[in-house]
Amino acid sequence: MTENIKDRIKRLRELINYHSYRYHTLDAPEITDAEYDVLVQELERLERENPLLITPDSPTQRVGNEPLPEFAKVEHPYPMTSLTDAFSREEVDAWLERVCRLLPDDTTLQFVAEPKIDGLAVALTYENGLLVRGATRGDGQIGEDITANVRTIRNVPLRIPVQDDMAVPPRIEVRGEIYMPRDLFDRMNEEREVRGEASFANPRNAAAGSVRQLDPRITAGRPLRLFVYAIGFVEGVKVESQWDALAYMRQLGFAVNPDIRLCESYSDVVHYAEEWMNKRDELNYEADGVVIKINSLALQGQLGAVGNAPRWAIAYKFPSREAITRLQEIRVNVGRTGALTPYAVLDPVQLSGVTIRQASLHNFEDLARKDIRQGDMVVIKRAGDVIPQVIGPVEGLRTGVEVPFEVPAACPVCGEPVVSDEERVVVYCDNPTCPAQVVRRIEHWASRGAMDIDGMGEKVAALLYEKGLVKSVADLYDLTFAQLEGLEGFGPKRAENLIQAIAASKDRPLWRLLTGLGILGAGEQVSRLLADHFRSIDALAGADEQEIEAIAGLGPHVSHALTTFFAHERNQELIERLRSASVNMVDETPVVVTETISLEGLTFVITGTLDGLSRDQAKELIEAHGGHVSSSVSAKTDYLLAGENAGSKLDKARSLGVKLIGKEDLLAMIENAEIGASGEISTGRLL
Ligand code: IVH
Repeated sequence: MTENIKDRIKRLRELINYHSYRYHTLDAPEITDAEYDVLVQELERLERENPLLITPDSPTQRVGNEPLPEFAKVEHPYPMTSLTDAFSREEVDAWLERVCRLLPDDTTLQFVAEPKIDGLAVALTYENGLLVRGATRGDGQIGEDITANVRTIRNVPLRIPVQDDMAVPPRIEVRGEIYMPRDLFDRMNEEREVRGEASFANPRNAAAGSVRQLDPRITAGRPLRLFVYAIGFVEGVKVESQWDALAYMRQLGFAVNPDIRLCESYSDVVHYAEEWMNKRDELNYEADGVVIKINSLALQGQLGAVGNAPRWAIAYKFPSREAITRLQEIRVNVGRTGALTPYAVLDPVQLSGVTIRQASLHNFEDLARKDIRQGDMVVIKRAGDVIPQVIGPVEGLRTGVEVPFEVPAACPVCGEPVVSDEERVVVYCDNPTCPAQVVRRIEHWASRGAMDIDGMGEKVAALLYEKGLVKSVADLYDLTFAQLEGLEGFGPKRAENLIQAIAASKDRPLWRLLTGLGILGAGEQVSRLLADHFRSIDALAGADEQEIEAIAGLGPHVSHALTTFFAHERNQELIERLRSASVNMVDETPVVVTETISLEGLTFVITGTLDGLSRDQAKELIEAHGGHVSSSVSAKTDYLLAGENAGSKLDKARSLGVKLIGKEDLLAMIENAEIGASGEISTGRLL
């Protein structure tokens, strides 16, 4: 085994960790996903060929491949306490008064104010920089060992420090919250729905459910993230305040919530809390309050705890978004794919300034498990901008007249018998001509994420269907001005606008057409991939399942759904009708074979005299190809470009193991990069 391979593996791990940190923790990637994948693939290959060189902190080793029989119990060296809640400004004022009473009169207080994330508390232990344990809070004394699952979370470092040259604490335990960012939660749920899987009620449930999987491979597929907010203990480092602790953890490479604030006065704290109360819907994580902490750890020590909660902190909870009201009736909605979903019709109730009349009931399995009955008093909740949800019945308020709900045996719209999966989680109407499905398909076709036909919402789709004018999306292209004018709500102007909007949709890019067809699993992202790859609907329709599956990120479900769709005569006819209406069916964007790898993400230092190239010229050349030129050599330097009479920089580069190159090497790298742009991936040679 040559030293070279070892070095290369080490370098790849550094690069991958660095770019993963830029992407997942700092949210500021420097390279494209494709470039990142090339690095990972090379590391995977080298490790496959040299299994003895695999280490547990290698970025390839995040996901274990054996499910656990159960979670082992672990004792926390220092208990994981909870927080006292405050529900009003008065209660927070009272807390501050208590704090002041317990401290000498002349104490100056600083506070740290932090969003209280609604996720799952976790304690992570690192020994000599290596992540050795992740544990849930449990009862505060004893938690569960979830190390294998925690390792799969992308922004949890497997080794610290992630990038800076700083001393490694021999042992440190950091504490924080595992959560699911809202945008990733929404995307995951959409994907689950198109795959016909049950969706999660909210990000908290999704995070908790994902962390408690015995099979880490399942957890790995869920978009979890971590924010740390405390040091449980640390050896060999002195930390004086909460603010220092956050800064120290950030330096080690942990993700610290950027919304945390150091407040110099109590009025700053109050201001902060009110600000976040109003902004809570804009956050990409669910927060149920603001945690206010006394900054100085010395003062924290003096204040101590009462029972299970420290005196030096308080959770100022946001106003409740729960209310209780009567569930009048359970109704069933039929979606575009035929999926039946129950929803609740409620006695109108006010909830954080909005009147709620309906709420989601999620799915039939959920409904049965919670035993929600018509006539029940139910707890409803609004979370963020999501539709209100029924949390569950208040069983103590039952009077005996409540009626359990039966899963319908027939579609409530067309009356055809329904089909369902084994767990009865998803129940379908299997009749493709069911009016509910047809109207939703038309609406979906016209929606902003698909063919983007202005003025064609749900109501218009339903109206055109009812009037017998549109039974399939292809009928839209036969509509005439005369047919529209005079329809309910349609004057000449609106009729003309709609005709124009429909005509304009004929020139949409291929991915929009694919999205609009509403094939199971082929949402916007998948449709873009398909359009990029196949470039015409005919090429896609002619592909077999294996070919489709070979495209990155596409699983057997989608490829099967696609081939089934195109095999169906009804769908072939639809495509032919769209074609004769001149709807665009090809992708005409120019082919980009691979991204230019060029010198992007690479840092150079120039030293000595370069033959025939001034330093400024060299700098310009590097920057023109996306590289960065720095004046001093550090561990972050990728290459030292050295000419004649190179001085101390050369020594430093050697001692740090930075690669040395000459002018010719630089020119060759740039040339390679240009070859890369025209079709060959050149990263392998570049780095
Ligand atoms: S500090 C002694 N800070 O809230 C202080 N907790 O009721 C211990 N939480 O289970 C916690 N965000 O998981 C703290 N910025 C934050 C937090 C936070 C969420 C959770 C934590 C704990 C619960 C305490």
